Amino acid sequence: KGCKLVGCGSAVPNLKVSNDDLAKIVDTSDEWISVRTGIRNRHILAGNDTLTALAVKAARKALQMAEVDPDDVDLVLLCTSTPEDLFGSAPQIQKALGCKRNPLAYDITAACSGFLLGLVSAACYIRGGGFSNVLVIGADALSHYVDWTDRGTCILFGDAAGAVLVQLWDYTAYTASYAYTRSVHDETARYYRNYTETPEIVRDRPACNSEEDGLFGFDMHSDGGGQRNLNAPIVENEVDHALGSNGSVLGFPPRRSSYSCIQMKGSEVFRFAVRCVPQSIESALQKAGLTVSSIDWLLLHQANQRIIDAVATRLEVPPERTISNLANYGNTSAASIPLALDEAVRGGKVKLGDIIAAAGFGAGLTWGSAIVRW
Ligand code: ACO
Repeated sequence: KGCKLVGCGSAVPNLKVSNDDLAKIVDTSDEWISVRTGIRNRHILAGNDTLTALAVKAARKALQMAEVDPDDVDLVLLCTSTPEDLFGSAPQIQKALGCKRNPLAYDITAACSGFLLGLVSAACYIRGGGFSNVLVIGADALSHYVDWTDRGTCILFGDAAGAVLVQLWDYTAYTASYAYTRSVHDETARYYRNYTETPEIVRDRPACNSEEDGLFGFDMHSDGGGQRNLNAPIVENEVDHALGSNGSVLGFPPRRSSYSCIQMKGSEVFRFAVRCVPQSIESALQKAGLTVSSIDWLLLHQANQRIIDAVATRLEVPPERTISNLANYGNTSAASIPLALDEAVRGGKVKLGDIIAAAGFGAGLTWGSAIVRW
């Protein structure tokens, strides 16, 4: 059994905030932000917008592209660090999507690496058996945790959601059901993508075998020792300090149900990313039996253009094979990889059969890579 990526979608909030807008509230400039980060605009949740609604919008687009009914989804993984419920938001997304057969839905918290880890989890669930359609959603609203007086962090982040549908690819069933025809001229195979339900859907992609499914190899890490460089820790509620809580009668400490704003030592995180991400991609490629020359696209978590450029240079991937859209959205945390993928697919850049080296990195610290085929 293998898996394949069969649909993607994304959504961003309506409110667009430019660098010039931010220069009105902190001591910064469009030039400083764009030169140091590559970011020009970001979108921020406002008014009645909710993260759950954004995630549902992205997920619906992914299901539409895949031509899969919400009822056929059997697992929803919501990768987020900013759920709208302490206990997780994934079941609310499942409900809103109308997945009536009651699939499992739960949250994964791994900051900017969340989507990457969700994607690998989806593939493992499918390969393990019992799951056919896993919806992986990356959605974050870090704007809720940004200190809008801290020019070192508030210029970086934006809100967004992105989704990918990962589907079971049972090669044995496929070959038994429909023989593929090989083109005499270009040796590419034409085969039925949705072989069980909709044989009329025929798409071109390179010839595959059972060893070459949608996830070739992956590599994942975490290092709690680096948490001091990027965090938003739980803090005691100020109101409990001021008023005293009933619990204090029994000697309980003040409640801790709030989180501090994002605290980051930017240059440390920068160095970590540039050091660890190339190593991780090389390791994932090695596990897949591939080399950098095999990949069509480098798709990194969109944190900083200088990080993307530095990693590409270290791996010797030319700029034209690197995907970047952070100029328009900033760092959207767990949403950044599926958002960039969705734009690249819908824009005709990433084509069916292309091999992508994707990598996430961020708070935890966490980081990881996956070599996938679109
Ligand atoms: N405008 C103007 N000046 C600024 C700004 C700003 N917005 N922010 C900082 N500065 C100043 C600093 O105060 C400092 O001034 P000083 O020299 O007088 O002290 C100077 O610019 C240099 O500051 P640095 O922090 O050293 O700037 P750096 O070149 O490192 O860029 C940045 C900062 C953009 C944050 C960079 O370090 C970075 O992108 N780091 C990586 C962040 C990241 O990738 N995070 C990903 C994970 S996010 C997650 O997981 C949730």
